[in-house]
Amino acid sequence: MELNEYIGHLKYEFDIPVSRMRKIVREFHSEMKKGLCGRKSSLKMIPTYVDIPTGKEKGSFLALDLGGTNFRVLEVKLKGSGRTIPPKVMKFVLDKKRIAGKGDKLFDFFAGCIEKFIKYDGCRGPKERKLGFTFSFPIKQTGVASGDLVLWTKGFSATGVVGKDVVKLLEDALARKGLDSIKVTALANDTVGTLIARSYQDKDCDVGVIIGTGTNACYREKVSNIKKWPGAATPSGRMIINIEWGNFNKLRRAACDIALDRASKNPGDQILEKMVSGMYMGEIARLVLADMSKRGFLFSGPAKKAIQKKGVLKTQYASEIEADRSTGLSKTASILKELGIKNSTLRDREMVRTVCGIVSSRSARVSASALAAVVTKADPGLLKKHVIAIDGTVYERHPTFAKKMRRALKEIFGKKSSNIKIVLSKDGSGKGAAIIAAIA
Ligand code: BGC
Repeated sequence: MELNEYIGHLKYEFDIPVSRMRKIVREFHSEMKKGLCGRKSSLKMIPTYVDIPTGKEKGSFLALDLGGTNFRVLEVKLKGSGRTIPPKVMKFVLDKKRIAGKGDKLFDFFAGCIEKFIKYDGCRGPKERKLGFTFSFPIKQTGVASGDLVLWTKGFSATGVVGKDVVKLLEDALARKGLDSIKVTALANDTVGTLIARSYQDKDCDVGVIIGTGTNACYREKVSNIKKWPGAATPSGRMIINIEWGNFNKLRRAACDIALDRASKNPGDQILEKMVSGMYMGEIARLVLADMSKRGFLFSGPAKKAIQKKGVLKTQYASEIEADRSTGLSKTASILKELGIKNSTLRDREMVRTVCGIVSSRSARVSASALAAVVTKADPGLLKKHVIAIDGTVYERHPTFAKKMRRALKEIFGKKSSNIKIVLSKDGSGKGAAIIAAIA
C-alpha cells in the first residue's frame, strides 16, 4: 500500500460524517431505552436516587472526590440561595501500587487522607460530620448513600472491591482510624456531582458530562420512564440517571481500537471510552504511528523501536503536538525526543501531527453524537435551552477538542444547536457530592 492510499484508508476508518453521527444518536437512544427497562444494553442507565437540588441546601459538609489517580478531600460550605463559599481542598495522588493492590489498603489510604484533612482543618472531634463520596466508577447504586462497584475502569484493579458496597468499605476504613463520627451520607458519580453542583446555581442545567481520563454523562429523566425503578417517584417526578456512556458499544472500530482493547485491563468493556477519553487518545495515535512505522512510512533507525513501546505517547503529548505551530514543528521534535525519537524528519513530524488530529476529531465527534442523543432523549425537537455542565482534562485542556465538538453539534442540529450551552464546570464533582449529602 502506498502512503497516500494508507492515509486515505485511515481517514475513512476514523471519519464520522454527519450521517454516522445521526446513526449513533439513534442507536444510543435505543440502548438508553433498553437500559432504563433493565434489558440487556451497553448503557447501564443507573438510577441515582436524587434529582437536582433546590439551591436552598445549607451547611458544612466534607467530600471525598475520587476521579482517578488524583483525588481530593474537601470541605464545602453551602450558603443556601445557590451560593457556596470557596471550599478548602487537599489534593492527593494514588500510585500504581495502590490502584492495583488490596482494596482494604486503598480505602485505608482514603481514610488516612481524610484524617489528615480534618487535622489540618481543625474539625476533629465527636461532632458528627456528613461526607459526600464521589466515586467515579460504574456503581450499581442501592440507595443515596450505598452502591456496589460493578467493574473497575481507567486502569484500576484493586482487589476485593468489585461487587462490594464502596460506602461500607469507606466507613469501615474510617472506623479503623477511629473516625466513626464521619458519616457517609451521599454517594455520587463525578458526572452527577458536576450536574448537581452546576444546577445548584443554574436551573437550566440538566446534563453533566466528564471528558477526562475517563468519560461519562448523566441527565435528568422522568421517573415514569425508568421502567426498572421499583421505588416511589421523587417530589419533582425526575431523577438523575448515570448513563455510564463510556461503555456504549455500537460504534465502528478501527484496527487499532481492537488492538488497544485487547491489550487493556478490561477487554470488551468501555468501547466508547477507549475511543474518546484521555486515557486512550494518545495510545490510539501511537498504535497508528507504530503501524505506519512498521510499513516504512515513518521514522528510521532507533525511532522505529521507540514508537512500538506501549503507552509512550501520552494524550497530553498528543495534545501539545496538535497545538504545535512552531517553525519546522520544533516543539514536536522536542516532544518526540523525550519519547526516544531523536531523529525525526519534518515529514515525520507533520505526519504525527496529522494522526493526532485525526484521533481527536473522532473523539470529539463521538462525544458530540452521544451528547446529542442525551439531550434529545428528553427533548427530541431540541425546543428548550439545555445547559451542559462539563469537566475533565480533555475538554478543558485539549487544543481543538471543545471546538470540534461544538462544530459537530452544529452539523447535527444546525442553528438549533445554540439551544445547547456547554459550560466548563470545574471541580464540581466533589462539591456536588457535598450538596447531595445536604439533600440526603
Ligand atoms: C467511569 C465513570 C466516570 C468516568 C469519568 C469512567 O471510566 O466508568 O463512572 O464517570 O470514567 O470519570
